[in-house]
Amino acid sequence: NKIKTKFPDHFLWGASSSAFQIEGGWDEGGKGPTVADINSFKRSHLQADSKVASDFFHHWKEDIALMKEMGLNIYRFSIAWARIIPDGDGEINQAGIDFYNDVINCLLDNDIQPFITLYHFDLPYALVEKYNGWESRECVKAFERYAKVCFQTFGDRVTYWQVHNEQNLMVRVDERVNITAEDSWEADRQRAQMDYHMFLAHALAVKACHSIIPEGKIGPAVSSTCTYPESNRPEDVWAARLNDWFKTDYCLDMHYYGRYPGYYMRYLEERNIVPVMMPEDEEILKDAKMDFIALNYYRTLCVKYLPADETHPVGERAFPINQVDFDQYGYFHHLKNEHLASSEYGAQIDPLGLRTVLNNYHQKYHLPLIVTENGLGTADTLTEDGKVHDDYRIDYLRAHILACSQAIEDGVEMLGYSPWTFMDLLSSHEGFKKRYGFIYVNRDDHDLKDMSRIKKDSFYWYQRVIETNGEEL
Ligand code: BG6
Repeated sequence: NKIKTKFPDHFLWGASSSAFQIEGGWDEGGKGPTVADINSFKRSHLQADSKVASDFFHHWKEDIALMKEMGLNIYRFSIAWARIIPDGDGEINQAGIDFYNDVINCLLDNDIQPFITLYHFDLPYALVEKYNGWESRECVKAFERYAKVCFQTFGDRVTYWQVHNEQNLMVRVDERVNITAEDSWEADRQRAQMDYHMFLAHALAVKACHSIIPEGKIGPAVSSTCTYPESNRPEDVWAARLNDWFKTDYCLDMHYYGRYPGYYMRYLEERNIVPVMMPEDEEILKDAKMDFIALNYYRTLCVKYLPADETHPVGERAFPINQVDFDQYGYFHHLKNEHLASSEYGAQIDPLGLRTVLNNYHQKYHLPLIVTENGLGTADTLTEDGKVHDDYRIDYLRAHILACSQAIEDGVEMLGYSPWTFMDLLSSHEGFKKRYGFIYVNRDDHDLKDMSRIKKDSFYWYQRVIETNGEEL
């Protein structure tokens, strides 16, 4: 296919992963259990869990050789906090540091820049037991210490850092932050406090990075989407705006300006869940300047206005907890967009939405952007001759890379593109059947088979994309 694209020289072509989804070795090398481990074990009888995952912990050399073969400029992965500090705020685990040192050095020997996320859904479980996790300021302190250990230990070789992966999504899903309250007001109160503490932790990490690593670049990884109104009724259009504001914009505004926007404060006040804030926080939040915005983008959404009523006050959730795209009275109700195709897992595929998001972020914040997740989750088939013909994945990625190129022509400054994911790994909550990788990992949910790595058709396609700096899509 000859499609005209335009990518700057030194554009960073990457692929992404996260610790609990790829590593395995969940209790090896001194690692402590994490919230992500415990959540995955709750579903062990139904699907794969984080115990072995893709077993990167034992296969990293072979896997990095494949990254080299694919031609990656960057590898975006996360460090497991509980490998470095098993109980979150106690002793430092040298074996964990050695593991990541080996991985980082091997990447660099292969001309691949590490692009590191500090926290990807895997809070050390001990912090939940000690403090109810992010609800406590102790967790903020613990995170700042952990971040400093990483910057001091790896910062001589690692320039690019992300703080929390998808704070804006993580905090909406109760099990990810271990909210167990059944009462919906209490759950929302805890959520608001945790969210605030994560912002504070983010700011402290940004400051620490800048003071410890002179050339260090750090930013958030924001779960990104854009929302369409079901109709052109002004209330529906307003509901779509609100959904974007509540899903992403309040978060980026907090990172950028160091304060919640008015509409978000009003929501916190109306719901009577304004978090406890300390006077000294203001300066910390304001001073922490992110260097880039990383966005994770998969799909778009569609909503209509959902009025509040006597039994359902403004801001109350209208659907069961643990749902990312939940509805809220007085705000929005989600619907299917009939104009878009969906993946077999229900994600509505929309490359133009990515161009919209990139333009929105650029026009509002004027910071360099990088896509650190984008991809198609499907149940791939391994053929008898050992191949995976995933042309549907190639189509998805091609359309989204093209959207990036168009956004660049619109004037957006982009640092790079790093899709999800380098190799098949544990889905965040749907086991091993739902695959995203360029490389097939030969295991099923409950049968580890030989764990061999098999290059899919998309591997060779992406290799060529990188080789031609996106000219050949
Ligand atoms: C992102 C997460 O939200 O979506 C990843 O950062 C996750 O951890 C990815 O794997 C895809 O979601 P899922 O649920 O299909 O694995």
